[in-house]
Amino acid sequence: MRSKIAKVGIIGGSGVEELGFTAEFKDKKVKTRYGEVLVKTGLVKEKEVVFLNRHGWAYTAPGQINYLANLAALKEEGVGCIFATAAVGALHKKLAPGDLLLFDDLIDMTRKRVGSYDARAFIDMSTPYTPFLTEVVKKAAAGIKLKLEPNIIYVCTEGPRFETRAEIRLYKKFGGDVVGMTQVPEVILAAEISIPYAAIGVVTNYAAGVTSRRISAHEVLVVMKQRSAELARLLEAAIRAV
Ligand code: HPA
Repeated sequence: MRSKIAKVGIIGGSGVEELGFTAEFKDKKVKTRYGEVLVKTGLVKEKEVVFLNRHGWAYTAPGQINYLANLAALKEEGVGCIFATAAVGALHKKLAPGDLLLFDDLIDMTRKRVGSYDARAFIDMSTPYTPFLTEVVKKAAAGIKLKLEPNIIYVCTEGPRFETRAEIRLYKKFGGDVVGMTQVPEVILAAEISIPYAAIGVVTNYAAGVTSRRISAHEVLVVMKQRSAELARLLEAAIRAV
């Protein structure tokens, strides 16, 4: 059966500025009412792909990202779904640095972000990640024999600082599995403008206090780089499957 989704959006997070398959992609400026966004467009497995670097091509911090423009640009480009990637810290030792994850739910601990296009957007968030798309990623990983941990609960913090040990203890009690800074409001805006959205996490470190190691932005990027080939393989398989 041919897929109904002809165009796929990819949002690359920290350390995923370029994926292997974007080498031949062309730059394109997309104008939106929220600002201009630079994307890369090209073909992957005969499917049109629009690649967007979440932090912009000159790094923007998590709280300052123009999420409204990013999502509006992908809508403008007519993508039928979005696969996103995100670096995360693990809240417990069932996960380890380097693990690939699939987010299933979210706890919003951000404070200062514009979370919707419409102030009266009462959006259902009972399944923030689109179940059919999550299933596509799960099957794509199985198809290429890649280990992917599903059903992950993501806690989104304001950042850019990393968390305190007490905050991490609290988030663990809340039922979170991982912590990161960028899923809010991205996943919410995708729901608001009706673009199916799934997100793949990469554990880059244990969160504060889970081990005695200190956390650095550098180690986050190093682990992301180490896993970017696998991530590209998974995204390629998911693009082909959707
Ligand atoms: N905390 C918040 N965001 C992150 C972390 C972390 O430990 N690692 C990668 N992104």
